[in-house]
Amino acid sequence: MGQLRLGVNIDHVATVRNARGGAYPDPIRAAKMAEEAGADGITAHLREDRRHISDADIDGLMEALTLPLNFEMAATDEMQAIALRHKPHAVCIVPERREERTTEGGLEVAREENRLAHFIAPLREAGCRVSIFIAADQRQIEAAHRIGALVIELHTGAYCDFHAEGDFAARDAELARLTEMAAFAQDLGLEVHAGHGLTYDTVSPVAAIPQLMELNIGHFLIGEAIFRGLTPAIQEMRRVMDAARHPT
Ligand code: PXP
Repeated sequence: MGQLRLGVNIDHVATVRNARGGAYPDPIRAAKMAEEAGADGITAHLREDRRHISDADIDGLMEALTLPLNFEMAATDEMQAIALRHKPHAVCIVPERREERTTEGGLEVAREENRLAHFIAPLREAGCRVSIFIAADQRQIEAAHRIGALVIELHTGAYCDFHAEGDFAARDAELARLTEMAAFAQDLGLEVHAGHGLTYDTVSPVAAIPQLMELNIGHFLIGEAIFRGLTPAIQEMRRVMDAARHPT
């Protein structure tokens, strides 16, 4: 099994900054620290309402980072133009509005196949690795494959929510779906990532899914950084992921 990459999502450093306006804490400084702490990539979501990451943050990340940037964005013309201007390593298409979502929270690709196929084509031509954030649902995976995505990111939010609610039967059923669908997607030739809501308590069974190549983790790490600092928080996540991947 190959090493599982860790993408650190720095959105919520910007959330804290924006609570007061101003420049502190700086998400670009956090991205550089994440790099030193062993992250394999940086993820940032430029939302349509700019509630956390700003356009200037994306400019700064593209300038300052040596790690690949995974740029999360909605499938809108505005975001497409920004992505085409920067040409980040990866672009992950995520739902922002309720009507773009499946009930499990991933992007509703199957219903919007034509539009999304046209939407991602120029991004692929520009050299971005296009990823689609979807639920562990065979219909959505097949649709993501048909539109020409190279990567899917499986939504782990439902699995994490069931864990937090103590509904372990539902959690384990969702984990089984994630496991089965990761294998299904890889058989189609897709590279498979996962993320959303992962913590030290929930990451291990996901990290052990052999087809997964990358996990993107943000909110928990930024929260944990309050207590132990960003570098140790990331190093511990790396350790827990590696232990799950390569048990001794
Ligand atoms: N992956 C995707 C596609 C996301 O949209 C997010 C949240 O922005 C994450 C991963 C990270 O989720 P979390 O912040 O809950 O770890």
